[in-house]
Amino acid sequence: MQEFTLELHEIKIMTTLLFITGNSNKLKEIASLLPSFITLKSLKDIGFMEEIEENEDTIEGNSMLKVLAVKNIYKGMCFAEDTGLEIEALAGEPGVRSARYAGEGKCNQDNINLVLSKMKGILNRNAQFKTVLTFFDGEKNIQFEGLCKGSILEVQRGDYGFGYDSIFIPNGSTLSFAEMDLPQKNVFSHRKKAFSSFIDYFQKTKISDFSL
Ligand code: IMP
Repeated sequence: MQEFTLELHEIKIMTTLLFITGNSNKLKEIASLLPSFITLKSLKDIGFMEEIEENEDTIEGNSMLKVLAVKNIYKGMCFAEDTGLEIEALAGEPGVRSARYAGEGKCNQDNINLVLSKMKGILNRNAQFKTVLTFFDGEKNIQFEGLCKGSILEVQRGDYGFGYDSIFIPNGSTLSFAEMDLPQKNVFSHRKKAFSSFIDYFQKTKISDFSL
């Protein structure tokens, strides 16, 4: 009986998932969260070199479109995620436009500068990061959400991380995301929460698939 259980565990260890992202920072963060029975494949590994245009008007939609973009050439299990920073006083901006908030061709620092200038003098600094992870299990798409609530700093702090990390401080922390190393960020992270829900689901459903 015990041997049988171990065999199922071995099957779990063999799982390879395609992670649909062109963002090396996200790849690093997700790789740091992987349980031992999952290995990742990248878009490069399957020879997919096209740019995926993120033109939906919700984070959920953009997360889904990345999965749909590879469907014609990849039939295996895969997942993608989309993340945005939602600021209460800016009616949820930059939200789905987080990557291009300051306009096409502008850099990350331009996006941060725009947020800081729009937030100048505003007392309500409440904000949240929202990640939506879409998993294609070979038949259907399932979405998982992760939220991290916090506030927007008045000046940038820290050198780690990427994106808006240097202006965001999660609730319950005295450090900005950019002042944390990866394990510290993972204690609070939206991406970690979405990914953990996905892994819970994956373990439950895939183990029962193998048990049938
Ligand atoms: P996307 O999910 O690649 O479209 O990400 C949109 C933008 O959100 C990125 O370009 C980053 O600027 C920002 N972003 C995504 N995840 C994070 C994060 O964990 N910390 C800070 N900024 C992030």
